[in-house]
Amino acid sequence: FVPRTGGGAGGGLAAKDALGDDVTVQGWLSTHQAGDRSLVQGLKGDATYLIVKEDKTIENYGLNAVCTHLGCVVPWNKAESKFICPCHGSQYDKTGKVVRGPAPLSLALAHVKESDGKVLLTPWTETDFRTDTAPWWK
Ligand code: FES
Repeated sequence: FVPRTGGGAGGGLAAKDALGDDVTVQGWLSTHQAGDRSLVQGLKGDATYLIVKEDKTIENYGLNAVCTHLGCVVPWNKAESKFICPCHGSQYDKTGKVVRGPAPLSLALAHVKESDGKVLLTPWTETDFRTDTAPWWK
């Protein structure tokens, strides 16, 4: 799945690491392995997962870590290959699609692209590719 990240529009925000520094593609890939899902500070300051693909590139979408039930930050469970919310047990698959409630909706998406070596996040306003529905977070 390779969505176009809409050309031209200058909007977007560099992902920030835990120290508040801009995340670079090279830096991220030197410290995160294939299959990794780790958090950066994303759009509106929301904790957002960057995904490292098996080919050691960064996935072109990121996942907002805020549980769609009552807003806990959902950790990635590598052994289960799911995001599992510690608050009430909701589960999301590796693409952030909800697979078990009480969460009613999948994790929100953001576009991820590289700009001048940095990881840039932009709002996802297109159809949610996991559910083929309009994005609920828009
Ligand atoms: Fe995540 Fe309730 S806040 S399951």
